[in-house]
Amino acid sequence: MSHCAAAADQSSFRSLMATFATGVTVVTSTGADGPAGMTANAVASLSLDPMLVMIGFDLRSRTLTAARMSRLFAVNVLASDQEQVSRTFAGKQSEREKFTACAHTEHAGVPILDGTLAWLRCTMTAVYPGGDHMIVVGKVVDMGGNGGEPLLFYGGRYRMLDRACRAGQAAQ
Ligand SMILES: Cc1cc2nc3c(=O)[nH]c(=O)nc-3n(C[C@H](O)[C@H](O)[C@H](O)COP(=O)(O)O)c2cc1C
Repeated sequence: MSHCAAAADQSSFRSLMATFATGVTVVTSTGADGPAGMTANAVASLSLDPMLVMIGFDLRSRTLTAARMSRLFAVNVLASDQEQVSRTFAGKQSEREKFTACAHTEHAGVPILDGTLAWLRCTMTAVYPGGDHMIVVGKVVDMGGNGGEPLLFYGGRYRMLDRACRAGQAAQ
């Protein structure tokens, strides 16, 4: 597909968007049935003042239902050794099974996963329709971080930074 235009079909859209490398997060919330969480990479920093993030939620996401109920969610940024955590939260097993498989701590109404690079707790401030997804905007009210190496997603596969990238210079 390099150097040529592709028809705007869903398969080409998927494979072209897979060239956009991202980190991996788990968005957590607490709904009527308790903790809920989903792996998400449609996550972006939206605004600095006020501090806002935005997330693209599939309309079928149970975590979206929980977040819309509680108006609270957290973004947990996964570390390079948390691929299995990502696989667990990308699945459709019960939310209880997901959280049994992953150590976490309840923090002011939201589950925060252990061993992540960073977490941000947010209140939901807006929801916009976005095709088969909803765009959720959250105001950051609390945050923390442990640092470390990120888990990445590129070309439909999990990746890690190589040694040269880790030693790279900060962006200007
Ligand atoms: C790397 C990766 C990134 C994903 N990103 C998103 C995302 O940004 N938004 C979304 O709705 N689903 C995303 N998914 C799919 C959800 O994790 C999946 O549908 C999950 O089962 C939803 O769980 P829930 O129904 O318990 O909320 C992603 C999956 C993977 C593996």
